Amino acid sequence: MDSLYIELSQNLKEKPNADALGFGKYFSDHMLTMDYSLEAGWHDLKIVPYGPIALDPSAMVFHYGQEVFEGMKAYRTSKGELVLFRPDMNLKRLNASCERLSIPTVDPSVLLQAISKLVNIDESWIPSGEENALYIRPFIIATEPCLGVRASHTYKLLVILSPVGPYYPEGIHPVSIYVEQRYVRAFRGGTGAAKTASNYAASIKAQEDAKKSGFSQVLWLDGVESKYVEEVGSMNVFFKMNGEVVTPELSGSILAGVTRDSVIALLKSWGVPVNERKVSIEELVEAHKQGLLEEAFGTGTAAVISPIGSMKWGELELSIAGGKTGELSKKLYDTITGIQRGQLDDPLGWRYTIE
Ligand code: COI
Repeated sequence: MDSLYIELSQNLKEKPNADALGFGKYFSDHMLTMDYSLEAGWHDLKIVPYGPIALDPSAMVFHYGQEVFEGMKAYRTSKGELVLFRPDMNLKRLNASCERLSIPTVDPSVLLQAISKLVNIDESWIPSGEENALYIRPFIIATEPCLGVRASHTYKLLVILSPVGPYYPEGIHPVSIYVEQRYVRAFRGGTGAAKTASNYAASIKAQEDAKKSGFSQVLWLDGVESKYVEEVGSMNVFFKMNGEVVTPELSGSILAGVTRDSVIALLKSWGVPVNERKVSIEELVEAHKQGLLEEAFGTGTAAVISPIGSMKWGELELSIAGGKTGELSKKLYDTITGIQRGQLDDPLGWRYTIE
């Protein structure tokens, strides 16, 4: 860490109104950068004023999308502590994504210390407000100027910070979902389990079409048989059926969400039966028919828990939990955000305090 260079901004920005942040529209005063070359490995770890970066138009990221990213949040607890939520999991996943995209991995402890320093410097950007947080976006891009399709020989890592409100303007409010049958997000052997830009790019068309038809998100089915549920929008998905909670197993095309893992651990600690297994759309329809589909919700860092109020599959429209936020969804939301914000005990050791 003694190699971390810091240049503080001389032009601090005006902060946005904490009541109207939206998601990812404002950025703090500083950013973290680090470069990679074959000769030097990862080097030049710096915190510098936030601003544009210069890249060659032939930089490989622009052409073949060799990129990975992460998302986590910083909070200030009522005791005034600065905390992150399970950052070790995000950094582990960043490296797993790097492996899949043939990007050199980073030292997670060096990166965590540097991110902590960045958050410390821009601590005043943590917005007030129960549902607000400072979103941390680490990402790595291929920077070598070359049009050959191969792994780049140079990379840039950046970490930017954004004060955010709830991912959905409505906050924890049930959303309507369109079960996507035409497009797929990921498939066996693809990059679905990695957090990489192309997965999100591939989802935009379906998302736009769903929006035009009055739905908030799409429910993604598997790319082989279009039969098994995979994710919802950019989140993992859970269903409560007949007393059991199920979530699609990590098949290789599903992102291993940190909130997903936390929900599973909490449910187990509460003695609620939870299973990671294949869930077909027919099973959900059948459970709904029998009145056994009790709740459905998405999980992610951005929205935490996003209840699903209805699902449309072909001509069938299924209303879930009477279109309201289910009891379990609300309990999970309150518990996870309570732990994140230091309002609840942290028996599983998920809070990471920035010194
Ligand atoms: C999340 O739910 O944390 C996400 O991954 C969404 C993000 C791409 C904005």
